[in-house]
Amino acid sequence: MGIFLTIVTFAGFSLLFLVLTFSFLIVKIYSSKSFRDPSYPPVTGTVFHQLFHFNRLYDYQTEVAKKQPTFRLLAPAKSKIFTTDTRNIEHILKTNFDKYAKGEYNQDIVKDLFGQGIFAVDGEKWKQQRKLASFEFSTRVLRDFSCAAFRRNAAKMVKAVSEFATPDRVFDMQDILMRCTLDSIFKVGFGVDLNCLDGSSKEGKKFIKALDESNAFIYWRYIDPFWKLKRLLNIGCEASLKKNIKVIDDFVHKLISTKRNLLAMQEDCNEKEDILSRFLVASQEDPEKMNDKYLRDIILNFMIAGKDSSANTLSWFFYLLCKNPLIQEKIAQEVGDVTGNQEKEINFDDFAANLTDETLEKMHYLHAALTETLRLYPAVPVDGRNAETDGILPDGYRLRKGDGVFYMAYAMGRMPYIWGEDAEEFRPERWLKNGVFQPESPFKFIAFHAGPRICLGKDFAYRQMKILSMALLRFFRFRLADETKIVTYRTMLTLHMDGGLHLRTISRKN
Ligand code: HEM
Repeated sequence: MGIFLTIVTFAGFSLLFLVLTFSFLIVKIYSSKSFRDPSYPPVTGTVFHQLFHFNRLYDYQTEVAKKQPTFRLLAPAKSKIFTTDTRNIEHILKTNFDKYAKGEYNQDIVKDLFGQGIFAVDGEKWKQQRKLASFEFSTRVLRDFSCAAFRRNAAKMVKAVSEFATPDRVFDMQDILMRCTLDSIFKVGFGVDLNCLDGSSKEGKKFIKALDESNAFIYWRYIDPFWKLKRLLNIGCEASLKKNIKVIDDFVHKLISTKRNLLAMQEDCNEKEDILSRFLVASQEDPEKMNDKYLRDIILNFMIAGKDSSANTLSWFFYLLCKNPLIQEKIAQEVGDVTGNQEKEINFDDFAANLTDETLEKMHYLHAALTETLRLYPAVPVDGRNAETDGILPDGYRLRKGDGVFYMAYAMGRMPYIWGEDAEEFRPERWLKNGVFQPESPFKFIAFHAGPRICLGKDFAYRQMKILSMALLRFFRFRLADETKIVTYRTMLTLHMDGGLHLRTISRKN
């Protein structure tokens, strides 16, 4: 009886605590938010709507944005403003760059994982990293080194896929793409051969699992109003996040110290090719500021930037090609025309080795199809900034200091008022004029962000995606294993395909 009473009392108090917390949040949410004032964006709900629609969050945003290009969700301490208006986006990301920062709100959420890396910081810290990284990314050494890694891994990937090239075999394309781009980013980022495609190291596997889980847990913090309490109590996903971050830290610190020792033994420092070694050389000029913790943050941010984005985009690309077989054939035709070896017998390694920068630049239709994929399935589906002062957006709506302003890249790709009535159609031709690729304003095609913080790896990503897709489409034809299966995303920081991409493939004639 005593135990029963204790349980009932405990449950009662817990329920009371939950009801009180919830009521407090609701009062906080609705107090002093000017939610009936038409000079602020119309309120379409509270942050709890995001929780409710979590599994199809970006489609929920799309439905709302079709009726209301700029809208507001109320949160306990502030409002969250969501927009698809390209004028607002230019205002936030470029014209008023200094007034919209990542801000404390975002930093609070991401800093356990991103530390003081380029994704998390503002001001001087960001400027310094941006300058150094822009310089490194523009060097011929890094460009040549990365392209060589992409070509080698493309040949390996083609070999891996050839194992499945019989009509009865089904394989997970997203998984293979992830492993392949991971090998590339490891090589380019750390100078290390992870060999994930053909049997990976145990330690590397553990690191990647920890990185993926942390990505999802960090995203959850944007949705869960109780995450700080959970972190304090070290319970639930916050406890798992902590464990995962420890795995990540140990791995990266070990790599840094191994590289440091290697570097000390080698003399010709300027010829270092991978990103970590290049930053280590740069750190010799300011060892106090660029200590191991800072290097951990820099390198991990690059890892996160480059790891999933290209593989996710390529997964959606192959999905769209399966849904549109004529477009798949058109790209294969372009590969043949540009490389001039459609009829010739050629092995995987030789084909990949011949994919020079010059060849890649001639692939206008492929470039258009990849861009069209990113328009509909942007790797970062929602991104945002924090208002540092009260202000007025170009569409006339006011916002308050501390409000979050988010642009919805996924929803934008589906807005008829941005892309026309056929917005939801996959049509690479919309990017071509007389067969030549025509870029769009970055505020309209926002997949790579825009303004001073535009993605630093854009060219790098296109090169990698082009090399991989050219190699795959030269040798294989793809189709979905199950045409009736609904393919959708898993809601997290990047647009990851939920449950993988299950395909069948057959060889093209060699
Ligand atoms: C399809 C591939 C990619 C897409 C769609 C993409 C998209 C983006 C987006 C949306 C941002 C802005 C994020 C923010 O607000 O903080 C960004 C920033 C960035 N990206 Fe990419 N990215 C891709 C690939 C890469 C790769 C391969 C690298 C490098 C290895 C890279 C490096 C960066 C860096 C360093 C930033 C931070 C820039 C700054 O804050 O100044 N990205 N990218």
